[in-house]
Amino acid sequence: MYYSDDLVEEVRSRNDIVDVISGYVRLQRKGSSYFGLCPFHSEKSPSFSVSRDKQMYYCFGCGAGGNVFTFLMEYEHFTFPEALKTLADRAGIALPQGEASGEEKRRQSLKSSVMELNKEAATYFYYQLRRENGAAAMRYLKNRGLSDETIHRFGLGYANIYSDDLYRYFKGKGVSDELLAQSGLMQADEKRGMRDKFWNRVIFPIMDANGRVIGFGGRVMGDGKPKYLNSPETVAFDKSRNLYGLQFARTSRKKNLLVCEGYMDVISMHQAGFTNAVASLGTALTSQHASLIRRYTDEVILTYDSDEAGVRAALRAIPILAEAGVKARVLNMRPYKDPDEFIKALGAEEFQKRIDDAQNSFLFETDILKNSYDMNDPTGKTAFYEALAKKLTGFEQELERETYLEAVASRYRVSPDSLRKMVNSIALGGMRARRGETPRREHKERAEQETGVQKSQKLLLTWLIEYPSLYGKVKEYLRPEDFSGEPYRTAAKLLFAQYEAGELSPAGIIDHFEDPQEQSQVAALFHQDLQVNSDAERSKALREALQRVILASLDEQRAHLDPTDMDGLQKLIARQKQARRLPQIEVR
Ligand code: UTP
Ligand code: MN
Repeated sequence: MYYSDDLVEEVRSRNDIVDVISGYVRLQRKGSSYFGLCPFHSEKSPSFSVSRDKQMYYCFGCGAGGNVFTFLMEYEHFTFPEALKTLADRAGIALPQGEASGEEKRRQSLKSSVMELNKEAATYFYYQLRRENGAAAMRYLKNRGLSDETIHRFGLGYANIYSDDLYRYFKGKGVSDELLAQSGLMQADEKRGMRDKFWNRVIFPIMDANGRVIGFGGRVMGDGKPKYLNSPETVAFDKSRNLYGLQFARTSRKKNLLVCEGYMDVISMHQAGFTNAVASLGTALTSQHASLIRRYTDEVILTYDSDEAGVRAALRAIPILAEAGVKARVLNMRPYKDPDEFIKALGAEEFQKRIDDAQNSFLFETDILKNSYDMNDPTGKTAFYEALAKKLTGFEQELERETYLEAVASRYRVSPDSLRKMVNSIALGGMRARRGETPRREHKERAEQETGVQKSQKLLLTWLIEYPSLYGKVKEYLRPEDFSGEPYRTAAKLLFAQYEAGELSPAGIIDHFEDPQEQSQVAALFHQDLQVNSDAERSKALREALQRVILASLDEQRAHLDPTDMDGLQKLIARQKQARRLPQIEVR
């Protein structure tokens, strides 16, 4: 569904950010802003600011920031359309109904029919479990240590022994074979026609983050095979985008998610109070799972089985999570096989200890790496250290690399100096090999030196919105193209355009960026905090920032100028002179 910029702006402007955030965070007025404890990281003194003028929030502690839409997307984990809908409702604005394509409409309507059917099936299974026929299933669940409350909370059920039970139930209600086939609840059998997919199994309804039933898992009560049957993928069920237990885990308010292999592990952990447990079901963790996880947290504790398959799953998951910006630690369950067994044997307190002790994923990986070398043989040992050094070059930040280097050096008893030499020579070799093609590294170094320019860019953007009269005074010297890098340049262009149109709306600029993380970055641009108080100091800082940004931009332009373009060169030189002789500009 596409919503026009005007509509988005209308919804935004009718929901004052201070009012909306006050519903979540206790705010106190301090000068022109409101301050409170940041809901996005834990802190004791308030660094979370909300500004009525800017219609933005920004945390000086953790850098979270954005406009009122960003806030709901981050706090409630809403998608943009959900945030828009909520705020439109709040302001009493009716959103237009979508003109989706015919195809898309059919899909949406099939999806809601399947979800509706799933809900009815879940209810049906739920009651079967509580009837006489379900007694054995109930006993099975109780024997596995589940309380009535847990069984209820997870909506567990039972599909009884007849393989056409659910089919007949739905036929009695007039549901078409076509829809039943699409739901994944039935299978077409050549000889006997439509059959239930699940029979004589305990049933685990699978829900999405909003608690809607999207599929099912069914377990045999005993040793039959297959142990678990799962719904096939349907319009409503995409295995690589859903995590079992997420509907509860997302509101657990713990700082990380526990990721395990299966149904019973999730349920046992929740029953023991670890309500932040989720599982990817019957499939390895995908990058879509990882991005889903990133919406809620940046740390995962992997609680996979302690067998070889579990170790392999962890090794696969770590880089996928890292790619999405999620750190991982690995929990050691030994001597038990999985969280379910561990908790039954040792209880919640011991499990919590294992969570606290969960191993850093890098060290987990290097421990495993070590196993493939013969450490009793000098050649094997050297080869391991080399592999270790190579892995260390993966850290781009020197401080981080050094910290890990020290840690592994003492862990594997090698002198940090020799390891460091190895790392450096590998890194150097890599650089030489790369020289001539893409000079990535050099680029990076330049980017780092440029933080001065970036800071100045931020300062200019911040002041331009804090002191609206400033725009008229600097536009003669400064152009939006002088801003370099993203999101600076886009933000500057939008801000200048707003001023030219005579309608300043910094919070509206944020809507031009899609991803909440980008939105935070943009909010940060408008919150550069320079501790200068006197008019003279501000004026001086402005001049420095202007010169720095303009001169850097001119240098850049000059480097890319066509050498025969004399006219262009003269203009550049003129601007350079002008920038060096900026007049005194007051910031107020
Ligand atoms: P496990 O075999 O480790 O089962 O499979 P479990 O979770 O310990 O189950 P219990 O405790 O014996 O009941 C882990 C997960 O892999 C999927 C299921 O999601 C299961 O929870 N799986 C396993 C299947 O989909 N099908 C199977 O036949 C087996
Ligand atoms: Mn198990």
